[in-house]
Amino acid sequence: MPHNIVLSGQTDFDGWRTAARQLCIAGIPPRDVAWSLHDMPDLFAASSGVPEGSGAFNVSRRFVDLASDVILHSDPERFALLYRLLWRLRAEPLLLDLMTDRDVSRAADMAKNVRRDIHKMHAFVRFRKIDGGGEERFVAWFEPEHHTLEAGAAFFARRFPNMMWSILSPRVSAHWDGSELTFDDGAGRQDAPDGDALEDVWRTYYAAIFNPARLKVSAMMSEMPRKYWRNLPEAELIDSLVANARKRTEAMVAHGVKAPKVNRQREIEQAPPLVPETAGTLAELRSEARGCRACPLWKPATQTVFGEGPANADIVFVGEQPGDKEDLAGRPFVGPAGQLFDRALADAELDRTRTYVTNAVKHFKFTPRGKIRLHQKPNTTEIRACHQWLEREIALIKPKLIVALGATAAQSLFGRAMPIGKNRGKVLDVGDARVLVTVHPSYLLRVPEEDRKREEYARFVDDLRLARKTLKEAA
Ligand code: URA
Repeated sequence: MPHNIVLSGQTDFDGWRTAARQLCIAGIPPRDVAWSLHDMPDLFAASSGVPEGSGAFNVSRRFVDLASDVILHSDPERFALLYRLLWRLRAEPLLLDLMTDRDVSRAADMAKNVRRDIHKMHAFVRFRKIDGGGEERFVAWFEPEHHTLEAGAAFFARRFPNMMWSILSPRVSAHWDGSELTFDDGAGRQDAPDGDALEDVWRTYYAAIFNPARLKVSAMMSEMPRKYWRNLPEAELIDSLVANARKRTEAMVAHGVKAPKVNRQREIEQAPPLVPETAGTLAELRSEARGCRACPLWKPATQTVFGEGPANADIVFVGEQPGDKEDLAGRPFVGPAGQLFDRALADAELDRTRTYVTNAVKHFKFTPRGKIRLHQKPNTTEIRACHQWLEREIALIKPKLIVALGATAAQSLFGRAMPIGKNRGKVLDVGDARVLVTVHPSYLLRVPEEDRKREEYARFVDDLRLARKTLKEAA
């Protein structure tokens, strides 16, 4: 007999999780389960087909993270897809690594679209001022593609904590009164005001950063799709700026004016808030970083691989970027270089679980070669674009020592290229932080002769011992 599970709403993750857990414990296969929604939460208990039963049931953090994104997708099939994955994971614990599997790749795509939707909300919500009985209030209209309004709203509470604001959308509206974030019914476009003085600020800003010589309409359309234009004050300038771009570029050339020199870093810094700026905890920072689009590496990568370890770690290790295994697992240093790193840490009597391990660049950069993805070194623009995350991880952790594993990590931490040979084994000051530079563990994997390999490994362990000694002295 089919089990009809009625969830209380589009974003009822807890309801789905409770039901899915019980169904799995009771051994109910996915084909015998039908998922539907009801607007009234109370009906959940009465009409659910959730079987009784108890028993131990564990799922990985990775699946929970994936499911909590996928559940926000607008596809009505998502509940069944997630249950199928959960069911299969019991017999296939490594299933989530199989990106060729249809269920896995569909769920990964859905999660990616959800994160992108949240990111678009952060970038494209524009508040308009209204006068609410003597109190200033700001209202925005936004139409997310997926059920992401609740998930995306907390960002604005952190960003504009002193403003009273509402974000209206067709399904649900979010309200911030300066201390509490609440949600109620959806609204219509006509409920949100049109136009105010703030819009001039956006228009001036947009016209100022628009560079006709670098116009790439397709890239611009993908970052700022047309459907969002209706709510963006600056969007009304786009057509005329694009139409005039050729004329303006020709005029620049005719007058001997060089097209502005491309300074990618400045562009990234100046861009509208594509990346949120405030996060109070590592967990919040990690979740913001999931939607990072500050450089193009997010696109082909499976996911953002954020740092991991305790928030009060005394020592932070910084690698280059996730490799193939890390990109799939969503965790840093779990592949071959990670295994060597673990061994060296143990030999230096450092406990990895008490350290924080992260990378200078949080997305895997690679070139596809048949079935293999070949690692590519991140360039300076990518290192700089990603630096904000590393800087913010360090600012939250405040470690006593940072260890730069290799040239990319050192470049990110010092803001310039640092020759490893010259700086290795020294503890250097960077602002308030102390940084020890050493080689990257993957360098040790590439040393061809066994004798040299052993020597280089011993030197690496010595550097880690120096890190331990420095920590002891700092304590
Ligand atoms: N290399 C790195 O720099 N980082 C990882 O996470 C894995 C390999």
